[in-house]
Amino acid sequence: MERELALEFARVTELAALAAGRWMGRGDKEAADDAAVRAMRAVFDTISIDGTVVIGEGEMDEAPMLYIGEKVGQGTPPEVDVAVDPLEGTNIVAKGLTGAIAVMAVAKRGSLLHAPDMYMDKIAVGPEAKGAIDLDAPVEDNLRAVARALGKDVSDLTVVILDRPRHQERIKACRRAGARIKLISDGDVSPAVATAFPETGVDVMMGIGGAPEGVLAAAALRCLGGEMQGRLVPMEEEERERAQKMGIEPVDKLLTMDDLVKDDDVIFVATGITDGDLLQGVRYYGQKATTHTLVIRGTTGTVRFVKAQHRLDKKPFWEKIND
Ligand code: FBP
Repeated sequence: MERELALEFARVTELAALAAGRWMGRGDKEAADDAAVRAMRAVFDTISIDGTVVIGEGEMDEAPMLYIGEKVGQGTPPEVDVAVDPLEGTNIVAKGLTGAIAVMAVAKRGSLLHAPDMYMDKIAVGPEAKGAIDLDAPVEDNLRAVARALGKDVSDLTVVILDRPRHQERIKACRRAGARIKLISDGDVSPAVATAFPETGVDVMMGIGGAPEGVLAAAALRCLGGEMQGRLVPMEEEERERAQKMGIEPVDKLLTMDDLVKDDDVIFVATGITDGDLLQGVRYYGQKATTHTLVIRGTTGTVRFVKAQHRLDKKPFWEKIND
């Protein structure tokens, strides 16, 4: 993919964040999500790609826009897979909490796992701890290996885990090992990516969350040289069948980086909606607003943080998406 596309993709998540950020704290997660989806969809039409959504808002019959299989872009080369989450952390925005992002990954056609909308067990680390994780090993073993790779004590590690009853055993195991834990209410993409940025203080992200979110985080970690492992966790027979239909067999196989994201030709972008470890959220000043976006290009590994100031009164689509 041409490097110029990276900035084009940043415009996509910027507009989604600008639209969703308006809904911060207003207790309406559907409206926030809808605003982000409409914004993202509108900008895609301006971009010179022949994109197919492989991770999106759901199946064709359940999502009006950015559904799986939808074509996006102007239909000109390159042919690419597109994974989007216009609002990762709908509850976060509804409640005005930290860590919501607008995020997408674009990769060479056929290189992203077509992850069904179900749970995935995941463990993620940054580049220094690549090779130290094993989803099948006990939590304590993983923490010891990661600490060794990072040259730290286990007691210096910070592990991010979604605060859910299903993680009680894992949380206990982390505490037994002596690691520090950051329990989050939602949004596990951002902390997974944060593992590759030592300044965030996040060393490991683990636990069961969304499978589509797993592929998005893996795309960033692939670009950054980190590692994620995953395993689908179907909750019912219908989910198992869906995973099989999407080509994941056996359904409960260990998914490595190469299964999740096959190729380095990936561009990952994320814009902060609310403040987080990695990205600042949107700020509005009358007709102006600022955004903070992470742009990563897998072929070169270049990481850019783009701070942008927007004139909302001059922004294409702004009026249309706020109708
Ligand atoms: P939204 O889809 O509402 O934005 O939630 C995102 C998320 O918090 C993910 O980050 C996480 O992987 C998943 O939901 C966790 O699911 P659950 O809330 O069912 O535990």
